[in-house]
Parts: sequence; structure tokens; C-alpha cells
Amino acid sequence: MAKIVNSWNDWDPLKRVIVGRCDNSVIPPEEPATSEKVPVDSEMRGMWGLRPLATVERGNECLENLVKAVEDRGVVVDRPTPLQWNQAIGTPDFRNDSMMTCMPPRDILLTIGNEIMASANSFRCRYFEYLAYWPLMKQYFDEDPEFLWTQAPRPRLTDASYKHNYYDEKITLEERLVRTANKDFVTTEVEPMWDAADVMRMGKDLFIQHGLTTNRTAMEWFQRYYPELRVHAMNFPGDPYPIHIDATFVPLRPGLIINNPNRHPAEGQLAIFEANDWQVVDAAQPAHTEPPALCYSSVWLSMNCLVLDPSTVIVEASEVNQQEQMDKLGMNVIPVDLRDAYPFGGGLHCSTADVYREGGCEDYFP
Ligand code: NVA
Repeated sequence: MAKIVNSWNDWDPLKRVIVGRCDNSVIPPEEPATSEKVPVDSEMRGMWGLRPLATVERGNECLENLVKAVEDRGVVVDRPTPLQWNQAIGTPDFRNDSMMTCMPPRDILLTIGNEIMASANSFRCRYFEYLAYWPLMKQYFDEDPEFLWTQAPRPRLTDASYKHNYYDEKITLEERLVRTANKDFVTTEVEPMWDAADVMRMGKDLFIQHGLTTNRTAMEWFQRYYPELRVHAMNFPGDPYPIHIDATFVPLRPGLIINNPNRHPAEGQLAIFEANDWQVVDAAQPAHTEPPALCYSSVWLSMNCLVLDPSTVIVEASEVNQQEQMDKLGMNVIPVDLRDAYPFGGGLHCSTADVYREGGCEDYFP
């Protein structure tokens, strides 16, 4: 029996990875947690249902580009099993008219050492998304005797999990920024809620973004669940829609992070990096002024890269400024055409989940 699952950070040499699929993807109906996350001028506001088939096919083509690029470098690729996402769902606590997708895996699966944990997402439409990964989890379980197959405590997602009337169409960008600065988000603290893409793994340290998708109770839960690790909350006051850390604060190798220039960490949160001589550099400007159509994310998916090892990184093919910066930072850059997969939930890092990287749990902040 082989060791299949192992990953402690985002830069050690990648050997096995999950890449999402766009099949049957849905723009979900509005629910308490989602209104806040769809930018007010987005063409997606008020719209829901299956995404157009041509965009699904094109998104899948892009993901195939990524699969080929990593397979060419000897990385084993696993794929989820999509469900028919446009089905109504219910639990004893809520009903929702639809699910969403199995893109991106990074939001759902968190790999820490020999454990892959399914997250505790705050969107009701994502409640059953983990099912797409269960066939892979069973396979890893059968083949790797040390693999820990885990599900985080499931949030109930009753109305008590959300602030009511938090969202108001008339709220200005400035008012949103005040909310972010005040750490005032749409979720309450009645239970731990978190998206795996808010967790940045750096060996002994977990840096977790507190924002619209992950609350403070989740951080307390993480610290108790992993007593041997150190959990650090991060806030980025410049982000009016703080969702997922991987277009904001992205490590390339030990000692080097690229930081979204519009989203610097809150006061005091860089101290640990400075004290350990890490370089935190502003990321290059995105090559685009707008995200593609029907996309939830910002143009900053430009920095959402997939590091294959401490000197090799995949960057989206049209993101020429980011490629140039990576090159200057001493990385070998592999461009992959993925932009038409952005609308399904993100860039290169989002579209993947780690299964195996070489290396162990190091202390980068002694
Ligand atoms: N919420 C982020 C994307 C995270 C992958 C952004 O839109 O910039």
C-alpha cells in the first residue's frame, strides 16, 4: 500500500492533485449568504439556473489544458464525479432550490499532512458539494493506510447563521470597506463556518482569512482541532468582498509572498513575516480590466497561481504582467490558458486541491 496523501504547504514539489470539472454547473439562487458576495453591478445579480452549455464545454477545455500541463510534468491528476447540480436540496434546517458545482475544489477540500478534510461552507447551495469528491476519498482510503478522511462539523445554516438585512442594494463601495475594516461580515458566530480556500497552509502555521466565507468561530475550532499548529487570523481591509485568501496573499516559496496591492493585511498582521525575514511584495497589476462574463471573482485571479515546486509556477496564459513579475522573482513560468474557467469559481489555484506534495511539516516562523 502506498502513501497517497501528504501536503503541508502550497510550494513543495507537487506530485498528485485534484482538478475540478465544470459539468452541470449552476448559478445558484439567492440565499442569505450569497447576496453579499455578488458585486452590485454584476450581470449575475438576480439570475440563476444552469450555466450555458457552451461555457461549460469551454471551461472544461481550459481545465483539460491544466491537466495536460501538470501531467506533462509527471503530476498524477484525479477528477471529481459531478452531480446533477440543478436539484433542490433540503436538510432539517433549510431548503435551497439548487446546488452549484464541483468547481473549484480548493473551496471544499483542505489537505493538511495525511488528512483531507471537507469544509464547513456558509453557502447552503454548497452543502452537498463534497459528494463529488467522495469517490476519490474512498479510493485514497482504500489505497493509503495512513490517509485520514475527515468531514469538519457540518454547520446547520439556519437563519441564525446569518445577519439579516445585512445586505442592502444601496450600500456603497466605501460602506463595504468600512464593514471589512470593522470585521463586520454577513455570517454570525453561532457555529464554525469556513471555506477551505480561506486557509493558507504554511507548515506549522495556518493563516486564515476572516471574511464573508469564514468566521472567527472557525478559527477557534481550527486551533482546538490542530493543537500542534498555530492559527493566525488575517484581515484585508482593502477588500470590499473578502472571500478566499488565494487572490490576496499568495506564497511562492519559503520566504516569499505576493500580496494584492489593494489588499494589504490589517495592522500588526505582517509582523510575524517581518520578524522571520519574509519578503512580501506587491503583486503585478492584472492584464485585464474586467473579469470574464458571469464570473464572481475579481481581475485579481491574475495572482491565483499554482506553484509546482519552489522554482516553478503555472500562471494563466493571458496574465502577462504576472508572468513577467514571477520571472523576475526567479520562478520558471508555465503559462496555461484557463481564463474561460474563471466564471466557474476561480483561477489555477482555486481549480485544484492538493493530494500529494513532497516534504513535511516545517516551522517557517520559529
Ligand atoms: N474573491 C477573490 C477571488 C479568490 C480566488 C477575488 O475576487 O479577488
